[in-house]
Amino acid sequence: MNVLILGAAGQVGRAVAAARPKVHQCIALDHSELDITDAQAVMAAMQRHRVDWVVNCAAYTAVDLAESEPALAQAINADAVGHIAASAQSTGARLLHLSTDFVFDGRSSVAYLPDSEVNPISVYGKTKLAGERHVLALADGIVLRTSWVYAAYGRNFVLTMLKLMRERAEVRVVSDQRGSPTWAGGLAQAIWAMMDKAPAGGVYHWCDEGTISWHQFAVAIHEEANELGLLRRRIPIWPIATADYPTRAARPAFSALDTRSTCKAAGVPAIGWRKQLRRMLIELQASGMIDGLRA
Ligand SMILES: NC(=O)c1ccc[n+]([C@@H]2O[C@H](COP(=O)([O-])OP(=O)(O)OC[C@H]3O[C@@H](n4cnc5c(N)ncnc54)[C@H](OP(=O)(O)O)[C@@H]3O)[C@@H](O)[C@H]2O)c1
Repeated sequence: MNVLILGAAGQVGRAVAAARPKVHQCIALDHSELDITDAQAVMAAMQRHRVDWVVNCAAYTAVDLAESEPALAQAINADAVGHIAASAQSTGARLLHLSTDFVFDGRSSVAYLPDSEVNPISVYGKTKLAGERHVLALADGIVLRTSWVYAAYGRNFVLTMLKLMRERAEVRVVSDQRGSPTWAGGLAQAIWAMMDKAPAGGVYHWCDEGTISWHQFAVAIHEEANELGLLRRRIPIWPIATADYPTRAARPAFSALDTRSTCKAAGVPAIGWRKQLRRMLIELQASGMIDGLRA
């Protein structure tokens, strides 16, 4: 297969490119190499590389900033996805597009199914939902929703926590938002498995197994990182309420995703979030990048 990865320098794009099975060709283009808002450039890339699958990992992901930049978020998360879908249709490529748990309002108490009712409560969530609709207008487009993504690189909760835990005497983390963390490395394996199995178009969900709060995640990061020697001391991690940590964008209080149909379609098992966290921390340790963490 010839697989084109868009947004290849982001957390997920990088992980997908790194996980490429050797039997497949992979063209990985980052933002500087291909701007997905440029419809002609997208079409030209798809034609030039004779693409079988295009994996769209490019997105406007600054959830809070999106509240004051709705037009830019719409252009990247929705309109550009329309261009990619049109190019996929005209070149005969299949499209696998990444989306988010933020299309839900968080009022559920059981894991969201791919066909559960959507109701985004932020600009980011609304623009991502609009993007999904372009993909689902294709006969065989795949929307793969995921949640709480982290990797040993990029901007994410785990790296931010490690930095704060190194610098501060204590850390406060919200305990009334629950969801499922997702290691980008495991997500990338699931994406390649999806392309191999080529299931019918539609919505699929992928996250690691288990539902926790951000506070529980922070406690686990602290424990695992201390065990691996990535932190030099133990500090208190206090639970706080969302109301005590106001953000510009509203976030769903609960956003666990039901992954069973994806496990079946891709033939891959869901893996527990803590096991995946440990894998990421071991990768971070091996990379020697722990001292260069940014907040
Ligand atoms: N991170 C999460 O927790 C999370 C959770 C659920 C779903 N998702 C979804 O997963 C996907 C990947 O997210 P991620 O965590 O990998 O995000 P990320 O690390 O922010 O990567 C997004 C990439 O998209 C690129 N990009 C932005 N605008 C672009 C444009 N116009 N043309 C081409 N590239 C552009 C960015 O490049 P620049 O930085 O150079 O602009 C960045 O490299 C997204 O669809 C996101 O909505 C993420």
